[in-house]
Amino acid sequence: TLPAPDPSALLAWYDRHRRRLPWRAEADERADPYRVWLSEIMLQQTTVKAAGPYFLRFLQHFPDVAALAASPLEEVLKLWAGLGYYSRARNLHACAQAVMERHGGAFPSAEVDLLALPGVGPYTAAAIAAIAFDRPAVVVDGNVERVVSRLFAVEAAMPGAKPRLKALTATIAPAKRPGDFAQATMDLGATICTPRKPACALCPWDDPCLARARGDQESFPRKAAK
Ligand code: ADE
Repeated sequence: TLPAPDPSALLAWYDRHRRRLPWRAEADERADPYRVWLSEIMLQQTTVKAAGPYFLRFLQHFPDVAALAASPLEEVLKLWAGLGYYSRARNLHACAQAVMERHGGAFPSAEVDLLALPGVGPYTAAAIAAIAFDRPAVVVDGNVERVVSRLFAVEAAMPGAKPRLKALTATIAPAKRPGDFAQATMDLGATICTPRKPACALCPWDDPCLARARGDQESFPRKAAK
């Protein structure tokens, strides 16, 4: 039987290999909830690579949530042009105004309060709570689903396996550094535990990975038969 996945091994890997992303704080900095929120909304349907330049332009035009809330919607839509899914831009503007009106310009840290904001669903609420406020929220995106489905060789097919994968992620999350753990699992999926030809030799979780022990990494996550 395999050892349990050790969150400290993943965090040590993250400290050395974490991606430098425009919205990410340096290791010694506090995360800015406004930047975390803005990036998570952009990343809902846009790749990390494509979102980068948009994120930086937004930050230049709207350095904080007050500036975004005070802007005409048209300005926001203009800057959003090219990202698609324009309801995201409308919700972005409405959310900035809600943060000003309901929370005096400071993003709330509790998932329930975040969930009540326009454009913020369960994934985004968890991501903001964990990354911006270091709350112990369980953050599971497509990258994390792949990592966890391989670690435990989860046989249930996607998308039905999602609740099971979220529960398994909760079992391996540490009490300390929940924000870094969330970002570390995302980075592991994006850079090491890739859909094809995962770089298992470089993985901090190679020993506890059941799919790897079976030599069957690429068959996870399981997809429903067509
Ligand atoms: N995808 C969604 N959120 C992300 C984040 N904070 N870092 C990297 N990739 C992401």
